Amino acid sequence: MEFLRNTWYVALWSQDLAPEQMISRKFLNEPIVLFRQADGKAAALADACAHRFSPLSMGKVVKGANVRCPYHGLEYDGTGKCVFNPHSTGQIPPAMKVRSYPVAEKHSIIWIWMGEKEADLSLIPDFSVLDPDPKKPVSKRDWLLMQASYELIADNLMDLSHSAVIHEGILGSEHTVKGNVTIEQRGTTVKAGRNVPNVPAPGLYDLIYKNDGRQVDLWQDMRWDAPACMLNDTGVTEPGAPREEGTGFYGLHFLTPETETTTYYLFCAVRFNPISWGQPLDGEIQTKISELRRFAFQEQDQTIIKAQQDRILGQKTLQHPVLLDIDAGPVRYRRVLEGLIKQEREATNTLQGKESQAA
Ligand code: FES
Ligand SMILES: [Fe+2]
Repeated sequence: MEFLRNTWYVALWSQDLAPEQMISRKFLNEPIVLFRQADGKAAALADACAHRFSPLSMGKVVKGANVRCPYHGLEYDGTGKCVFNPHSTGQIPPAMKVRSYPVAEKHSIIWIWMGEKEADLSLIPDFSVLDPDPKKPVSKRDWLLMQASYELIADNLMDLSHSAVIHEGILGSEHTVKGNVTIEQRGTTVKAGRNVPNVPAPGLYDLIYKNDGRQVDLWQDMRWDAPACMLNDTGVTEPGAPREEGTGFYGLHFLTPETETTTYYLFCAVRFNPISWGQPLDGEIQTKISELRRFAFQEQDQTIIKAQQDRILGQKTLQHPVLLDIDAGPVRYRRVLEGLIKQEREATNTLQGKESQAA
């Protein structure tokens, strides 16, 4: 599997990286340690000391800003430069440094740039729905390490017809199987919409709406941006009524490959037009949203996607699925992603060609 590299991946929820803390991750097969510098800015370094390759993440943050290697105590700053050698004369060879990855903090997320090209902040997709707004309660900013490739999970999210089957009772039901699928593309942003008119409100939607199981119009509009950052504008309203009169949530889904077959999955839900039942019920509903969505992704999606992946891996005859019209979303986003990866590959080849000519 070839990954897109010159793009922003979601590393962590901002709230999960405290001062003095180090978090070890592997993104695109590369071990990385994340920590905060003295000014609070997040930094990301290759998680292997340049001296003898011990994981820096097993050391600690010292002097409020440096990472100290757990083995012989060399210290690195947020740029990856070795800034302190406790031994003999304290001399530091110029090559004593580790790779540092550009990091940005926006929309309550720490983003990491995995490519060699200069990081481009304008490429962070708009997730301002995550910026603080008292009128839009947010469920737990949660995450899972999924035992499945990010592509299979993105396929799952770009075709929400599965919610009627896998998530029956929570996010769908036998009534919500038939939806009208629409596909829209602007630049490299893909939207897969799904409208399901006049059906009994499925579990989670009923819970945040009228809790009476009555008929509603249901919509699920999933937006995809490279590499795998998704926003699902979803909700319910009275049959025939405009969406603004209903209620719903933005489902945020961020996928960052750990390896070809495992993926960090960060998620939460931001409610819009929330209906208040007063406390303590509102608090209980918020908790329930967090719990139900985690259950749906961890126990239901993961189980089936991992089993699907186990079937596909190493089976040459199972590489070309027979598609249905519900697959329009996965097909379109994969086409865009493959195009971006191809562009990146060609640009790298051209550059390498020029370099070898010059040498
Ligand atoms: S391995 Fe890091 S200081 Fe020796
Ligand atoms: Fe799902």
